[in-house]
Amino acid sequence: MLGRSLAKRKINQTVFLCILGAFWFDIWYHNMGNLLKVLTCTDLEQEPNFFLDFENAQPTEAEREVWEQVDVVLKDAKGILDELQAYKGAGQEIREAIQNPSDEALQEQAWAAVVPLVGKLKKFYEFSQRLEAALHSLLGALTSETYSDPTQHLEREQALAKQFAEILHFTLRFDELKMTNPAIQNDFSYYRRTLSRMRINNVPAEGENEVNNELANRISLFYADATPMLKTLSDGTTKFVSENKNLPIENTTDCLSTMASVCKVMLETPEYRSRFTSEETVSFCLRVMVGVIILYDYVHPVGAFAKSSKIDMKGCIKVLKDQPPNSVEGLLNALRYTTKHLNDDSTNKTIKSMLQ
Ligand SMILES: *[C@@H]1O[C@H](CO)[C@@H](O)[C@H](O)[C@H]1NC(C)=O
Ligand SMILES: *[C@@H]1O[C@H](CO)[C@@H](O)[C@H](O)[C@H]1NC(C)=O
Repeated sequence: MLGRSLAKRKINQTVFLCILGAFWFDIWYHNMGNLLKVLTCTDLEQEPNFFLDFENAQPTEAEREVWEQVDVVLKDAKGILDELQAYKGAGQEIREAIQNPSDEALQEQAWAAVVPLVGKLKKFYEFSQRLEAALHSLLGALTSETYSDPTQHLEREQALAKQFAEILHFTLRFDELKMTNPAIQNDFSYYRRTLSRMRINNVPAEGENEVNNELANRISLFYADATPMLKTLSDGTTKFVSENKNLPIENTTDCLSTMASVCKVMLETPEYRSRFTSEETVSFCLRVMVGVIILYDYVHPVGAFAKSSKIDMKGCIKVLKDQPPNSVEGLLNALRYTTKHLNDDSTNKTIKSMLQ
């Protein structure tokens, strides 16, 4: 009884301090405009609860070095998505060439159509490697011993947290586009078959878009995955964990679960949500929440759906379901079909049925 009332008093105090904090914050915010950074009311007993400024966060001096490295990569992300979205395969040319194997002109036409496409596929693949390296730097910074826990990291390194979110946002979008474009795998396998035939016949096939065998194998494997970019990030995160033997895996997965909670809390708290100046930030936040859940599910030994998971899966799914119908179907599908542990026996039936 005493414990309960103490706890209650603590909560009341926290609420009071938060309101007071928010009040002063508002005054400060309206005076300082873009200097808006954080609204802090973190109670360790509760979920990490602060406003992560996805719209305006700027790097501090301490963040700058990593931020600049990652920024160089992120600057190219939009162009990659635009190119992938515009990617029209060489299905027609390939079909005609295959149906008329003795028509040399058609063979040449198909080859001429495929080679530049392979150049694009190689470029996307190479970008995935750069993105993995960027993620590696971010994880290094966000799990360093500079701050004692992931909440402090995300709160004080908001510009890095924002970049991390942008990487996840890009990743889900890339995989969505890849998933709906079967031409990609078709083009690449035609290229490989034709290339090995040309090699046997000693026809030189050199050119800037030529890929050697070893690289071709890696690119094939990359596109064979249903969600290649996410696979790259989860492998990269696992690699990060195994390379940093002194860093417990929890320190990395806690960074992910904290990010998921921060997104969830911002989405379900009207005061925070109303600070977003654009609806796009809402969908950004939703996508990041889902991306980070999937990543956690891959990297954490027992995954995001286990009882011991630090992600409140029911809460996150509820936030998704509270959005306008049809706006989040893709994200719910990502949870349904690209997570690793949803169908484990140990997953709570309630969670399974929420996703049905
Ligand atoms: C891992 O996280 C714990 C708790 O947040 C912290 O005390 C510890 O210093 C971290 N370990 C390293 C190596 O950063
Ligand atoms: C599953 O979740 C529900 C709702 O939160 C809870 O009541 C139930 O005890 C959980 N079941 C198990 C087996 O943990």
